[in-house]
Amino acid sequence: MANRIILNETSYHGAGARAEIVSVMKNRGFNKAFICSDKATCDAGVTEKVTCILDKEKVAYMLYTGIVPNPPIENVLEGVEAYKNSGADCIVAVGGGSSIDTAKAIGIIVANPEFGDVRSLEGVAPTKNPTVPIIALPTTAGTAAEVTINYVITDRENKRKFVCVDPHDIPVVAIVDSELMETMPPSLTAATGMDALTHAIEGYTTKGAWEMTDMFHLKAIEIIARSLRGAVKNEKAGREGMALGQYVAGMGFSNVGLGIVHSMAHALGAVYNTAHGVANAILLPTVMEYNAEATGEKYREIARAMGVEGVDGMSTEEYRKAAVDAVRQLSVDVGIPQDLKAIVKEEDIDFLAQSAMDDACRPGNPKDPTKEDIIALYKSLL
Ligand SMILES: NC(=O)c1ccc[n+]([C@@H]2O[C@H](COP(=O)([O-])OP(=O)(O)OC[C@H]3O[C@@H](n4cnc5c(N)ncnc54)[C@H](O)[C@@H]3O)[C@@H](O)[C@H]2O)c1
Ligand SMILES: [Fe+2]
Repeated sequence: MANRIILNETSYHGAGARAEIVSVMKNRGFNKAFICSDKATCDAGVTEKVTCILDKEKVAYMLYTGIVPNPPIENVLEGVEAYKNSGADCIVAVGGGSSIDTAKAIGIIVANPEFGDVRSLEGVAPTKNPTVPIIALPTTAGTAAEVTINYVITDRENKRKFVCVDPHDIPVVAIVDSELMETMPPSLTAATGMDALTHAIEGYTTKGAWEMTDMFHLKAIEIIARSLRGAVKNEKAGREGMALGQYVAGMGFSNVGLGIVHSMAHALGAVYNTAHGVANAILLPTVMEYNAEATGEKYREIARAMGVEGVDGMSTEEYRKAAVDAVRQLSVDVGIPQDLKAIVKEEDIDFLAQSAMDDACRPGNPKDPTKEDIIALYKSLL
């Protein structure tokens, strides 16, 4: 079977890159943008950094700011109606993964109304038409939703987050501007950055990984490992590194999948509304230990990319431990909680484990877990 790679048609990178929005709109013949954003991103003055450029250049737009973190089905349905009433011919997503994911779901349903129930989009849905064209400007440095073919929606009624994988949803243009990320508080920077590291590590070790995606993932680990501490201190080099590192991770994992860190994190997001990055960050070192035996020599390269010295002289046991320790140390240094005590209730674990087993990321895990394995992993963090 051939390996498939899907990326944006065009992407722009670097501080100030958002200015490109005008030429993108004009050159692609778009007349009016439907801007998908959320209240907190607006309140932080971030969305305005994009709309003020459109105002100045007299580009028409309608601003929709109804999106919430862990976006629910209701959010998508409201967004679809708002888009239909807007007279827009493209979507501009300005926000974190929640805003970009909602934009994708809106764009897919507008172009494929038979999936208007939203739930039928779970997994790999047979949509026929590409989304309404999306231009994505991420304001967090984590999900890489601007370059992935995935989006994640919350089914509040059934307490589930479900992953949709659809080549038709990829934003046609990504504009990755680190200046849109400067207002993130340290805790959000840390959590979203650890999400990006999780993508790179799960993408590197997932069953479908191959040489080209390994290239993206190892480079992403290296950039994130050297940039995240600085980003949390709001240093320019750290911000720019994280903007790039998270995107490079997305170029990889979007094309090969992830693993059970994400499956277990999705369950926490659905049941407790836990921030996605926080959930991943807490779970990552523990799941790395569990997966180690199924990863061949890969942890040697993870340790190297994390900046560990002397990995060539290490035994398998040593380099595996070194890789996990380096990830755990980074997580501690950026202030991530180290257990799930404040999040998980013991009586929910059976439900959480079943949700994780049912999650679309689970089959990609390097080791095939049983439900009991997942229960044990959650319990080990209580
Ligand atoms: N599509 C994908 O491939 C993919 C991958 C991983 C995760 N996800 C999904 O993405 C969502 C998480 O996205 P996220 O981690 O980017 O967070 P988010 O989009 O949920 O945002 C978290 C909070 O940060 C605020 N915020 C965003 N940018 C800000 C800024 N620059 N300054 C100040 N505040 C800001 C938001 O308003 C929000 O309140 C989850 O639902 C997750 O499942 C998607
Ligand atoms: Fe993620």
